[in-house]
Amino acid sequence: MDKKLLKTIFYSSFLAIILFAITSSGYTNAENNSYTGPGDDKTGYDSKNYKTNSLSLDHREGKKADLIKYVTVKQLGLPNLVIPSENPITKEKIDLGKKLFFDRRLSLNNTMSCGMCHVPEQGFTSNEIKTAVGIEGRSNLRNTPTLLNVAFSKFLFHDAREYSLEGQVWQPVLAHSEMAMPSFGFTLKKIKLIPGYIELFEKAFPGEGVSIETFGKAIASYERSLISGNSSFDKWYFGKDENAVSDEVKEGFKVFSGKGNCIACHSVGKNEALFFDNKLHNTGIGYAESMGLLNKKKTKVQLAPGEYVEVDNEIIKSVNQQKKSNDLGLYSITENPSHRWLFKTPTLRNISLTSPYMHNGSISTLEEVIDFYNNGGINNELLSPMIKKLNLTDIEKNNLKIFLESLVGENIEVLIADALSTPVGDLTKDDPNWANNTDMGYNK
Ligand code: HEC
Ligand code: HEC
Repeated sequence: MDKKLLKTIFYSSFLAIILFAITSSGYTNAENNSYTGPGDDKTGYDSKNYKTNSLSLDHREGKKADLIKYVTVKQLGLPNLVIPSENPITKEKIDLGKKLFFDRRLSLNNTMSCGMCHVPEQGFTSNEIKTAVGIEGRSNLRNTPTLLNVAFSKFLFHDAREYSLEGQVWQPVLAHSEMAMPSFGFTLKKIKLIPGYIELFEKAFPGEGVSIETFGKAIASYERSLISGNSSFDKWYFGKDENAVSDEVKEGFKVFSGKGNCIACHSVGKNEALFFDNKLHNTGIGYAESMGLLNKKKTKVQLAPGEYVEVDNEIIKSVNQQKKSNDLGLYSITENPSHRWLFKTPTLRNISLTSPYMHNGSISTLEEVIDFYNNGGINNELLSPMIKKLNLTDIEKNNLKIFLESLVGENIEVLIADALSTPVGDLTKDDPNWANNTDMGYNK
């Protein structure tokens, strides 16, 4: 096959992935009657007889929840949330932020919302792709992190380059490989021209209107409400309910806090546990990638049920928008050589919902994550001294995994159902759009 054809095949496989992500939203898993997980887990996708289970966006239904109570009422296992004084949280801001979060018109070509990478049913991440794909199939360097409990993070992004949710919001909107809006001004003008938004901003921010700041404050307020504690682990460990978890979970926690030493970075305090330490560490994942240790010559790409093609990785690299080989973590922010391959410790709450794992999505399952740590991470000159070979037995590894699975928050289904009750913002004939004479003013 020639290079051009392969490129086309590669692009179409990206498109297929995105289409799956879109069509599978809003689907309730028939088996366990829960929202979590991809709408179609593609069991049997390797066979030509595969039939999809996913439903279209038309079937998206949910149930609105009173999210502000998750901000004001303390949940077992989580600290009290400190709300920045310059952005007091209100119902109106949360509702506006949520509407913006799911509005595809906030992207240049009206196709991509925040919620399409941070997919609610997939733990507000993307289960189906290792590294994020933005508009027109543009590839990104990193894995989409969860937004559950993001309000407690001191640093944002895998390399900790941002500190406030309000400030973070504009990066994906303006990033060429994500939502690709051309400027702050263009985005704000477009929002003002979309019927309804001026009134909603006025309600949420009386006298302030649509601005760079209010846009950030609204979305930040929604993200801040995505708080999820009261897991079965919390009910046992902090709530002292001995029946809340199985013996395996209790044994797994012993491994986590003892022989496994996971607790050194994924912190658990006396009264609360964020499962992160607001610090960055070198576990070797970034090193392995920069040194090409993860590189295979070819990648098996699935085009359709039962249809595979082997694609040369050189070709995959050539269509990528960003070079994937040189993610140096905190070093790219500080240029301090000792900061090479430092990445932020992620939370482990809801971890069973947020695969694939690590900043580059390079590990698919919790079993593999545990094996990775059991082998002492990946050795390099800057490896954290807290990462060592663990010599865990099979039983210890299994209990550790069962413990990690006990960290799913109690309200997770409520948060997802609430997200699904929000209409997806799609282009209508009344919106600014070249096709219907309500454009951005360039044709007048
Ligand atoms: C194309 C997929 C994509 C879209 C669209 C997207 N994100 Fe993200 N988001 C990511 C990725 C990937 C990262 C990690 C990037 C990094 O670390 O450099 C991220 C990181 C974040 C973080 C930091 C989380 C943490 O724990 O550090 C927040 C908050 C966030 N996004 C919110 C948003 C909001 C709000 C929007 C919409 C305005 C949005 N994202 C749109 C993929 C996306
Ligand atoms: C030295 C600090 C440190 C120790 C010890 C540690 N971790 Fe981590 N963990 C991290 C960092 C940093 C990351 C993110 C690495 C990256 O993104 O490349 C991470 C990532 C993870 C992830 C993936 C999270 C996600 O959302 O992608 C899991 C799961 C995890 N660790 C579990 C464990 C377990 C289980 C142990 C104990 C066996 C452990 N960790 C020990 C620092 C640590």
